[in-house]
Amino acid sequence: MLQIDVITLFPKMFDAITESGIIGRARDRRVYQFLPWNPRDFATNTHRTVDDRPYGGGPGMVMMAEPLEKAVSAARQRQISAGVRKPRMIYLSPQGRLLTHELVMSLAAEQGLVLLAGRYEGVDERVIARQIDDEISIGDYVLSGGELAAMVVMDAVIRQLPGALGDAESAEQDSFVRGLLDCPHYTRPESHEGVAVPPVLMSGNHADITRWRLKQALGRTQQRRPDLLAARGMSADERTLLDEYLVEAQGAGK
Ligand code: ADE
Repeated sequence: MLQIDVITLFPKMFDAITESGIIGRARDRRVYQFLPWNPRDFATNTHRTVDDRPYGGGPGMVMMAEPLEKAVSAARQRQISAGVRKPRMIYLSPQGRLLTHELVMSLAAEQGLVLLAGRYEGVDERVIARQIDDEISIGDYVLSGGELAAMVVMDAVIRQLPGALGDAESAEQDSFVRGLLDCPHYTRPESHEGVAVPPVLMSGNHADITRWRLKQALGRTQQRRPDLLAARGMSADERTLLDEYLVEAQGAGK
């Protein structure tokens, strides 16, 4: 069972993912164990202060080293007691390396993750230097705190763990596993506001359907994320499918 501890001033935010949907069901099935730690519980002064003004001046506040480091150590100790040999210590911040499918898979292979969610002005750098293995960003924009980023990491990692998804929801079919964007999807009715489902999907010919889906995935990736396709490369068959897509799209004015 993957051990996940989070250091956060807002533990209740995590109920949003741990209590519903796939991630809630995976918790019930003991696919992972989740425990939040609040640095405020480790603050020693009467006002339970966890932040202070930045040395050198400037706007905003910085999370103080001592309560944070105590919370991080408590989380690390709990993981070691739960049998994790070496918990992977992660700080969520816009300065981190970008989260990708490859990074998600490497996190999913760990025994334990400790996620540190700071406020966006940041945490005292000495805590990062002493305690953190990996700094991770979920994109080039600034959130008001690391909690949403930590939840994004948790969701992406947990759904890759054995037992998290039902057979019908297999992660192998996911976008990015093949380095491509997903194909379009349709369900009943056959016609919606005069727009029909692509006939091939109604044909019952599974080889044709698989070929059509791959063609759509290649075409959309070329049109929306050419960087992904360039990084991945294409087989000769895929090149042929993409050329077909581009001719058809041109005919349809897309
Ligand atoms: N904290 C604030 N913004 C963030 C981002 N983009 N990624 C990760 N953590 C963050």
